[in-house]
Amino acid sequence: MRKAVFPGSFDPVTLGHLHLIERAARLYDEVIVVIAVNSAKNALFSIEERKALLMENLRSAANVRVDVAEGLLVDKVRQLGADVMLRGVRDVQDFAYEKQIAWANHELDASIETVCLFANEGYGSLSSSIIREFASYGKDVSRYVPANVARAIRKKYEKSEKTKESSIKTGKEKSIRMAQTASAAVEKTMKKTMFDWLKENRIPYGRKDLINEALTHSSYLNEHKEVLHDNERLEFMGDAVLQLWTTEKLFQLEPLLSEGQMTTLRSQLVCEAALAHYSRELGWGAYLLLGVGEERTGGRDRDSLLADMFEAMLGALYLDQGMKPVSMILERVLTPAISEPKNEVLIDYKTKLQEVVQADSRKTLQYELLNTQGPTNHPEFEMAVLLDGIVLGKGKGNSKKRAEQMAAKAAFEKMAR
Ligand code: PNS
Repeated sequence: MRKAVFPGSFDPVTLGHLHLIERAARLYDEVIVVIAVNSAKNALFSIEERKALLMENLRSAANVRVDVAEGLLVDKVRQLGADVMLRGVRDVQDFAYEKQIAWANHELDASIETVCLFANEGYGSLSSSIIREFASYGKDVSRYVPANVARAIRKKYEKSEKTKESSIKTGKEKSIRMAQTASAAVEKTMKKTMFDWLKENRIPYGRKDLINEALTHSSYLNEHKEVLHDNERLEFMGDAVLQLWTTEKLFQLEPLLSEGQMTTLRSQLVCEAALAHYSRELGWGAYLLLGVGEERTGGRDRDSLLADMFEAMLGALYLDQGMKPVSMILERVLTPAISEPKNEVLIDYKTKLQEVVQADSRKTLQYELLNTQGPTNHPEFEMAVLLDGIVLGKGKGNSKKRAEQMAAKAAFEKMAR
């Protein structure tokens, strides 16, 4: 028996959803409509209300039932004994978003497949978010949703209008407003932005649009149709700025180094791990704009994302104000790393170890994966470094690359003893 899960926020269920569920019910023996939480959206209806509205509409569909997921969707799908998730696609923006969610779910559980159904022409632009927006301005939405949902929406807004009126009468509105202003102020101080950071650190900037672009990861772009660019072009720009600045700095500060030595040092100073390290030192991860999936899978602390954002910020500041702000930032994080290469992140132990080994033989080191532990989104790898099949050192890390470096470090330190 083929079971499929049809997940979504269904806040509220629309005619477009119902049409897709009806089509899905013809394809599978059983379809379970699962209401899940989309943390990027503010809910209008409670989960229980959404469930009741869906159930009323699906009563006559014999092979369709409604359920709720509290945690990760893949866990619910597994628990229901299904191996397919069905998602509706309306347009190319949906496609990009769905591709990302499907990838995230596949990372979480590769045995579950996502199957996409294209929405019918007539429902191609219909979304629960637009319906909530229409309803909040008092527009009648009965053309887009089943009758019970239209009624429930009307009731919701009537209720909130009544509460508003009665609170005016009792003078409560003033205190509610005061509380709202206070909490907005608290939120403002709590939610420091990159602009606050730049001001505090006296870094000149003018182009807020470029800064925002530098903070935008592609996963955020996919979920926010109003956003036009992610940070990849600025990263390209920043990479060149970073190379030039670092080259000049090494040239001035290290007159005794050869061209080859400067090249090695520069690649250590601007490698992904080093850039992520600078980003963390500046506390920039908090300002990254990420999509929901990326956020959930730990993107905010991932080296690649932090490094890309670091370069993109340099690119944005350079285009905006020239070399001055770039220099202010790099003087703070990169210059100390030149004079103090003890910083673990900046030392390429693999290269060092290879140099030691090659000093008395032409042999090459091998790296072997020994073990992988932990959940898919927070794995821990253990690698060994071997020479002629003999283990020289072992190391652990949250990526294979990092575990290799740690294994090389262990071997290097053993040899130095
Ligand atoms: O109708 P929507 O808002 O597009 O549905 C999105 C939903 C609720 C299916 C998605 O946000 C989701 O799967 N939420 C549950 C949490 C989860 O499993 N996240 C991992 C995938 S990013």
